Amino acid sequence: MLVDNIILIGFMGSGKTSVGLQLAKRIGYRFKDTDELIVAKEGMEIEEIFRKYGEEFFRNLETATLLTIVDNIDKTVLSTGGGIPIRDRNANLLRMMGHVIYLRTSRSTIINRLSGDTSRPLLQGENPSEKVEKLLSSRAPLYESAADIIIDTDDKSIDELVDEILFYFIKEK
Ligand code: S3P
Repeated sequence: MLVDNIILIGFMGSGKTSVGLQLAKRIGYRFKDTDELIVAKEGMEIEEIFRKYGEEFFRNLETATLLTIVDNIDKTVLSTGGGIPIRDRNANLLRMMGHVIYLRTSRSTIINRLSGDTSRPLLQGENPSEKVEKLLSSRAPLYESAADIIIDTDDKSIDELVDEILFYFIKEK
């Protein structure tokens, strides 16, 4: 294949995990997910980590996870938690690992996809749509500046998104 690692970033509900799994399968790469690495290492779900130790503690786990994999990640599609690019340091680590792709999704699609979701601590409680709106508007510029490639995901199937990602690399060659 064409590149070493592919890193997927984007808001919660943008399809990083589904697209990442399918992409890895198509190109014969390994698949990793920062949230899954954290859950496996801590032996706790993300929701429990937030509830017991708070967001800052979780953010430190995210940075520690990236530091653990940065030197030995190879032929991997890495899906990242939606908050990873908030920290400049994390964004730099992602760029060191490979091509960073932002799966950009509109506010309304995210709200539709995540309605009723109980696994994302940051969207629980009153008025989740307002939470999405606020977080998305503060994060969108960070995702954009961390990315090498931006792909709009609204109304596209997983397979279409995988094709679009692969098309970029073919074009680049
Ligand atoms: C978060 C996104 C989640 C998870 C945690 C915090 C965020 O991952 O890391 O709930 O801050 O956007 P997904 O983007 O995979 O939902």
